[in-house]
Amino acid sequence: MSEQNQAGSQQHTARGYQDQRVTLAITGASGAPYALRLLENLLAQKQEVLLLISSAARVVFATEENLKLPANPDTLQTMLCERFAVSPEQLKVYGKEEWFSPVASGSAAPKRMVVCPCSTGTLSAIAHGASDNLIERAADVVLKERGQLILVPREMPFSSIHLQNMLTLSQAGATIMPAAPGFYHQPQSIADLVDFVVARILDHLQLGQDLVPRWGYAPKAKPEGEQK
Ligand SMILES: Cc1cc2nc3c(=O)[nH]c(=O)nc-3n(C[C@H](O)[C@H](O)[C@H](O)COP(=O)(O)O)c2cc1C
Repeated sequence: MSEQNQAGSQQHTARGYQDQRVTLAITGASGAPYALRLLENLLAQKQEVLLLISSAARVVFATEENLKLPANPDTLQTMLCERFAVSPEQLKVYGKEEWFSPVASGSAAPKRMVVCPCSTGTLSAIAHGASDNLIERAADVVLKERGQLILVPREMPFSSIHLQNMLTLSQAGATIMPAAPGFYHQPQSIADLVDFVVARILDHLQLGQDLVPRWGYAPKAKPEGEQK
């Protein structure tokens, strides 16, 4: 195995290594545009993305984006690498039972994982440690390894069960970032709303973003009557 392959994208520094890998899981909640935009930005920032997509997410993509995602992980990987013009080394897709993939073990998994969007079903499974498919296992691994797990649930309204699961996950160290865009950046389009959510996720991953102006740095909106 080459030195390059052994190291992957873990850049060695005096303090150990800086892992430039992110696990991105896409589940069957509404919000395919969030997932696509997040993936695009992670790749543009030269992150190595380990991608997991549930069967329900493929149904949502067909519904919301008119995009048919192949069920076969290798075919899907080829399609997405072409779409985003990246190499298969930068974007890897794993199937729901690929237990020998890096995300399935604390010894190899990236320390950062985002589930975007996160269905209430997957939220529940992660909260209860089900580990019944690779998405649930990967999230379980990140929690046990005290890594960064960001969950982006979308449902309306939330039941007490959803809220309790979110509290359980928050107490276990996960960050709950509901897909709830703000309006104070005066969005002009759906893309602006999508970018609001994606920008906050990138912020939490400590990746730079200029999708949305930062609070306090945007041009100040003047109250009516004070406009010139
Ligand atoms: C078009 C569509 C939209 C959906 N929207 C949501 C949603 O916003 N939130 C949610 O929790 N589930 C939603 N669901 C239901 C989930 O897809 C379903 O519960 C599924 O079992 C989740 O599986 P997964 O967690 O493995 O992706 C939606 C399903 C479809 C087909």
